[in-house]
Amino acid sequence: MVYVTRKTHFSASHRLYNPTFSDEKNEAIFDKCNNPNGHGHNYILEVTVRGIPDPHTGYVLDLKLLRDILENEIIEKVDHKHLNYDVDFLSGIIPTAENLAIVFWGIIERNLPAGELHSVKLFESDANFVEYFGEPVSIPRYTLKIKNKEIPV
Ligand code: NI
Repeated sequence: MVYVTRKTHFSASHRLYNPTFSDEKNEAIFDKCNNPNGHGHNYILEVTVRGIPDPHTGYVLDLKLLRDILENEIIEKVDHKHLNYDVDFLSGIIPTAENLAIVFWGIIERNLPAGELHSVKLFESDANFVEYFGEPVSIPRYTLKIKNKEIPV
C-alpha cells in the first residue's frame, strides 16, 4: 500500500456559534472565533489517498485528477468566502476545522476515481490542525427561526 498526498490551501472567514446557546455561552466556548462579524483563516488542506500503484503507470492515483477534484469541488467554493453564509454544502454547519474536514471527506470520496481515501488533514493555523480518517460521524445542521421562517445559521 502506498500513500499519496495532495496539499492545497484556501483563505476564508467564519464565525463559530451555536444558535441554541446564549450569547454568553457562545462567547465562553468559541472565544475569538465567536466574533460577531467573523474573522479569517489561511487554511492548508492535505488529502491522502492509499492504494497499490497501477502496474502500467506506477500511479496509485494521477495526482492531477486529485488536484482537479480539490480545486473544482472544494477550493473554488470556499476560497475567499464566508463559510457560514456563502457555501451551500456548509449551510447550517458550525464551521470548525473538524466539521470542515468531515464534509470535505464526503465530497472527495464521492469524486475519487482511483485508490481509497485515507485522510483529510486541515490546518486552521500553524499550531492547530485536525485529521479525519472517515469514521462515520454525523454533524448537526442548525437553523435560525426568524419570523417563522427557518434559515440556516
Ligand atoms: Ni476561527
